[in-house]
Amino acid sequence: MTIDVVVLAAGKGSRMRSDLPKVLHPIGGIPMLGRVIETARQLEEVNITVVVGHGAEQVQAHFADSGVRFVQQAEQLGTGHAVAQAIPHFRQGASVLVLYGDVPLVKAGTLQSLLSAADKGPALLSVEMANPAGYGRIVRDDAGRVQAIVEEKDADAATLGIREVNTGILAAPAELLARWLPELSCDNAQGEYYLTDVIARAVSEEIAVTGVRASDALEVAGVNSRAQQAQMERALQHTRAVALMDAGVTLLDPARIDIRGSLECGTDVSIDINCVFEGKVSLGKGVQIGPNCLLKNCRLADGTRVEANSVIEQADVAEACSIGPFARLRPGTQLAAGARVGNFVEIKKATIGAGSKVNHLSYVGDAAVGEAVNVGAGTITCNYDGVNKFLTEIGDGAFIGSNTALVAPVKVGRGATVGAGSTITCEVGADELAVARGRQRNISGWQRPAKKKRQ
Ligand code: UD1
Ligand code: CA
Repeated sequence: MTIDVVVLAAGKGSRMRSDLPKVLHPIGGIPMLGRVIETARQLEEVNITVVVGHGAEQVQAHFADSGVRFVQQAEQLGTGHAVAQAIPHFRQGASVLVLYGDVPLVKAGTLQSLLSAADKGPALLSVEMANPAGYGRIVRDDAGRVQAIVEEKDADAATLGIREVNTGILAAPAELLARWLPELSCDNAQGEYYLTDVIARAVSEEIAVTGVRASDALEVAGVNSRAQQAQMERALQHTRAVALMDAGVTLLDPARIDIRGSLECGTDVSIDINCVFEGKVSLGKGVQIGPNCLLKNCRLADGTRVEANSVIEQADVAEACSIGPFARLRPGTQLAAGARVGNFVEIKKATIGAGSKVNHLSYVGDAAVGEAVNVGAGTITCNYDGVNKFLTEIGDGAFIGSNTALVAPVKVGRGATVGAGSTITCEVGADELAVARGRQRNISGWQRPAKKKRQ
């Protein structure tokens, strides 16, 4: 099937009260329009055209590399007019699918069934709503066949009572839309060219219209305000939390987790409250995440524990490591099995070998730390001269005393020991002891200066 997707994204979104175009506001960490494009891409042989208007430059710049085509709708004259802007790009024999940049959670499977129903005539996606206010109503005849969509502002009292509403999402053969859209009239309460009028048009030509009912209101819900955005965000997070729990994850409070990307978990993972997951995160079996942690694009293998208030980004952590509380793993961190990174420790672009410990108040950046190394409290790798970054290498079994400055580039050999308070500027050989600090002098009889007493 050849599918031409048209995504409407030209509207102003004034109720967002934002300088950012509405479709760039995120749901689950991804701009709404980005979600719609991703979903559309899951369809076969798809060509995607996005209709832009308000904030067109910003929207186009954001999706410049996404492989979609943009067409301009200079004036927002209605949804029918918007889709008409894409007619020159309709392909021969294609099915056109109309989506919306502000309806972010629609699923590819639903779109596929809509498309299957639209090979000869239009198929529209409807949904039952307890409170249908504001939506176009689906008018069916006694046999249940769709007759028309009537906009709220054009509806009489009886029509207003209908609870089946138009989601706006619609599929139809390209030839029919290309013929009908230029002929729409704007003789209605809003003076707009309504896309929805193609339904009555099909009926008048005795072309069957299929109404496909969506089962899930969240899937077809649109975002018009920040309140709706927040509602949808919570609903999405709730769905994700339930899916995680169904897959064997313990969430100490499913209402206090935010997944802004994808989170994969092994069994018996436990996640405490207020954790945020961004990008692609994967947690192995039995991983435990304490409260208030931020994890972004990282992988934690089986049995690793992250204590409260830790921040982990672009890190690869092996089995049974211990991280935090208050640890920060920055991009390029690799922890081997059983490594320990304790409180107020920052690691960047560094490998920490199996069973090694950096337990307190340290900065380890641009470093290769071997196995079974002990990095004492307050150790700093001085990796930067203001222009260049340099490497610190610490061999297996080395012991770095507290409050050591390792001035890179520098090497500490296997089994070497560095005395506390040292500033290490040259290589320490294997098994050597390096002490690089002023010797202690004790001066007896020393008199501290005394303050003069007031008279
Ligand atoms: C539309 C439907 C209505 C449906 C509702 C679902 C029509 C005439 N009505 O109404 O039946 O129940 O959606 O939310 O289609 N847009 C453009 N260019 C335009 C006009 C709109 O790009 O000229 C875009 C908007 O950015 C928005 C979407 O189309 O994303 C819907 O437009 P909107 O004016 O909100 O339609 P509704 O009046 O809500
Ligand atoms: Ca509207």
